[in-house]
Amino acid sequence: MKTIILGGGGQLATDLQKSIAGGQAIALTHAQLDVRNSDDVRRVLTTEEPNVVINTAAFHHVDNCEDQWQLAFEVNAFACRGLAAICEDLGATLVYISTDYVFDGGQSVPYRESDLPNPLSTYGASKVAGEFFVRTYCPNHLIVRSSGLYGLAGASGKGGNFVETMIRLAKAGKPLRVVDDQIMAPTNTAELSLKIAEVIRSGGRGIFHLTNQGSCSWYGYAAQIFEYLGLNPDFGPTTTEAYGLPAARPRYSVLANERLAALGVEPLSQWQEALRRYLTDKGHL
Ligand SMILES: NC(=O)c1ccc[n+]([C@@H]2O[C@H](COP(=O)([O-])OP(=O)(O)OC[C@H]3O[C@@H](n4cnc5c(N)ncnc54)[C@H](OP(=O)(O)O)[C@@H]3O)[C@@H](O)[C@H]2O)c1
Repeated sequence: MKTIILGGGGQLATDLQKSIAGGQAIALTHAQLDVRNSDDVRRVLTTEEPNVVINTAAFHHVDNCEDQWQLAFEVNAFACRGLAAICEDLGATLVYISTDYVFDGGQSVPYRESDLPNPLSTYGASKVAGEFFVRTYCPNHLIVRSSGLYGLAGASGKGGNFVETMIRLAKAGKPLRVVDDQIMAPTNTAELSLKIAEVIRSGGRGIFHLTNQGSCSWYGYAAQIFEYLGLNPDFGPTTTEAYGLPAARPRYSVLANERLAALGVEPLSQWQEALRRYLTDKGHL
């Protein structure tokens, strides 16, 4: 099975390339293929004839998406329209990576795959639009929603990941305040990529929520990082309101991985276990 990964320089893409069995995965970076150029996308995919295309490419700096909303929609949504039509023409399965930020966070129980999106931000809206273009133009699709990604490569779109940022700030000795009123499930891209590969192989199609298990606030997540590493910074909780970022975020965006269970696939591990594995793999432990 031949797989093409778009946005191939990113942190999830880097792990996906390792996790797709058989070494038949080709990762194309932003510099090699801009997903907004549908002529180039058609030419490359027609030449390569993949069975599966995984689109990880995104403009996902949530606050910058508010100002640069055209770019957010070009990359996260409009590019998916052409890509979906091309995959359909070629008979390829299209996998689109989406986000917990499609939800408004009004619930206090995990969001199911069947729950209706209601994004609070341009980023979330652009990802919902991307999902709908994929669903409309390529019936043979898999939409994977995940949350709080961190991986060894670091998110190129955000200049690293939350874990490395917390470690850097703690070591810099500056006072650290982290929001304690947004609850989600941090997810290790090494595990996520293996699970995506397994769902593709098992024939899972449609929307799947795939995250590490359990949940925490960003403050609780940072506290766990510091506890594992024996760091003791000047560190405390704050609120979303006091922190005052431009884009609204869901207060609660835990995703129930129900369709994974229905497919008979083992869930991802608890987020604390996945975090410890990352810290070990990264050489911090
Ligand atoms: N990070 C999170 O917490 C999170 C949470 C939930 C869902 N997601 C979703 O998960 C996916 C992967 O995220 P990630 O954390 O692996 O992010 P990442 O490391 O920033 O990877 C995204 C990649 O997309 C590339 N890209 C941007 N614009 C492009 C374009 N026009 N054409 C082709 N490639 C382009 C970026 O390249 P350049 O950097 O060179 O522009 C980057 O390598 C995204 O779809 C994101 O929306 C992320």
